[in-house]
Amino acid sequence: MAIDFKKYIASIKDFPNEGIIFRDITPILQNGTAYRAATHELAEFAKSKGAEVIVGPEARGFIVGCPVANELGIGFVPARKPHKLPRAVKKASYDLEYGSNSLEMHIDAIKPGQKVVICDDLMATAGTLHATVKLVKELGGEVVGAAFYVELVDLKGVEKFSDIDIYSLVKYH
Ligand code: HPA
Repeated sequence: MAIDFKKYIASIKDFPNEGIIFRDITPILQNGTAYRAATHELAEFAKSKGAEVIVGPEARGFIVGCPVANELGIGFVPARKPHKLPRAVKKASYDLEYGSNSLEMHIDAIKPGQKVVICDDLMATAGTLHATVKLVKELGGEVVGAAFYVELVDLKGVEKFSDIDIYSLVKYH
């Protein structure tokens, strides 16, 4: 039986700021069956796109992307917050639904032409995705897809990526 993933997403009003409904995916992670099923759905999508490596942005992209890479037997590359990676990096900055941040990747993290699927927990305004796509392209990779547990449809993130196939387990309006 297919899992209703919305049962495993908590909605918190006015967190972290007034007017925001925060979609909390930690109940998926707490439930072994739900976490495995969510991982499997994203892995099937990544496989269908011919993914050769998974890239996940810090921090929840690690939780979502690492088991996907592991299920497919392919590598995982982290896109990290500034000053965490020890070798030469590329950096990209981005705006969030609330606030802004930067991400860095090691310059040798992606092989030229390598097919990349980006995994994260949630797409809001797609600032994080935008920065991650930019980094992957600058490193010579090809972004063939992006996969999320949750998409906040009204923030219109998908519309910013006409050339990337975007998959999500659940959508909220
Ligand atoms: N949940 C989790 N992360 C987020 C959200 C949300 O609703 N909006 C922006 N980042």
